[in-house]
Amino acid sequence: MAVQSILDALGVNSRSQKEVSRLADECGISRETLAYLHRSKKLPSVKDLENLCQATDKDLVSTKIRLGLVDESVIARLDGREPIPPNSPKKGTNRFKPDLSTEAGKLFRADCVEYLKTVESERYDLIFADPPFNLNKTYASKIDDSLAEDEYAEWCLEWLDECVRTLKYGGSFFVYNLPKWNIPIGEFLTKRLTFRHWIAIDLKYSLPIAGRLYPSHYSLLYFTKGPKPTTFTPDRMPMEVCPKCFGDLRDYGGYKAKMNPEGVNLTDIWMDIPPVRHSKYKRRKEANELSIKLLDRIVEMASKKGDLVFDPFGGSGTTYAAAEIKGRRWEGCEIGPVDGIKQRMDGLDEEKVFIEKYRSNYNSLFPPKTKVERVRRKLWTCESVREKANGSHSNGTLELFEN
Ligand SMILES: C[S@@+](CC[C@H](N)C(=O)[O-])C[C@H]1O[C@@H](n2cnc3c(N)ncnc32)[C@H](O)[C@@H]1O
Repeated sequence: MAVQSILDALGVNSRSQKEVSRLADECGISRETLAYLHRSKKLPSVKDLENLCQATDKDLVSTKIRLGLVDESVIARLDGREPIPPNSPKKGTNRFKPDLSTEAGKLFRADCVEYLKTVESERYDLIFADPPFNLNKTYASKIDDSLAEDEYAEWCLEWLDECVRTLKYGGSFFVYNLPKWNIPIGEFLTKRLTFRHWIAIDLKYSLPIAGRLYPSHYSLLYFTKGPKPTTFTPDRMPMEVCPKCFGDLRDYGGYKAKMNPEGVNLTDIWMDIPPVRHSKYKRRKEANELSIKLLDRIVEMASKKGDLVFDPFGGSGTTYAAAEIKGRRWEGCEIGPVDGIKQRMDGLDEEKVFIEKYRSNYNSLFPPKTKVERVRRKLWTCESVREKANGSHSNGTLELFEN
């Protein structure tokens, strides 16, 4: 949380709608965002703050201090040095040409921070970021993946800040990383956005390490700009049953009749995301490709058709493929070669079929095949427990069903 709210730090009368609206319009920030930053004492991005200070004729360094933000420019001021002046904000100077354009999206071979600097504030409905994890991996882009820890953290704050700025009010931001990095990333984002979830993706990613627990989950952080997301439509999952006998894996006791026939609520532990390891399915072995199942779920949950999705770290283009298949618009950057993404976007039919196949099991407690098997084996179904609860088993059919 900031020490002072942004409007108080700028000396703006927060009760004057006219003043707040004028400031918002002048800085290209929505009124809702400005009111949210003020009310919840959240921090704006660096570039938005520079614009706000310029529009109100306030000293940037003093305003940072009022907000409780200590950075190099504040330290320079304390040391009596002149802080390096910020780059004057540029509006509408997008010098990037897309390397790939489809009807729905644009891919730029570019450094995402450089690209984002040319993008207006509050452009994207959904941002998903899967950066390199600083694990000394070899990328086709030849980026340095073994930075000193503070250098890596500093670089993360740069692209995170730009993602915060370019996210729409009500938009959602997901960051996929190791728990170790998502702790400082989460701390940075909590001061700027609203925390929703730490989702654990159950995937083993190294061999067991002596003297440590076996690392078995990746962290997926989920934040929104504003108190709640504009779109939140999580899939409901089928109830887990034994794959052989289709029986219950848990004792649902007296709760069976209360279970939603449309499926179980999605939890914050995702056990069903497969690794992409097989070379046949992996487009670029250096790209650390994620399963499209993960991106399909995120895109479905946090955006609607026609929304604009952004991914700063293209890799093999999984986010763009999911967005394209699901009727969202998309934009993305990849600093390395983009031929793999181009090829992938040319032939999405197989991935579309794959998604449709597993999605046919979603949003139903017992998908068709499971239901047939359970009826055949006289196991309970939503209909049987409801009929039983309503006392309508006088026709003798329900005595057939197990409790
Ligand atoms: C972990 S991979 C992303 C994989 C992607 N989610 C997928 O499923 O295919 C990270 C990617 O970010 C790219 N990258 C690294 N630094 C970048 C930067 N500054 N701007 C844009 N892309 C960058 C790397 O070249 C790499 O392909």
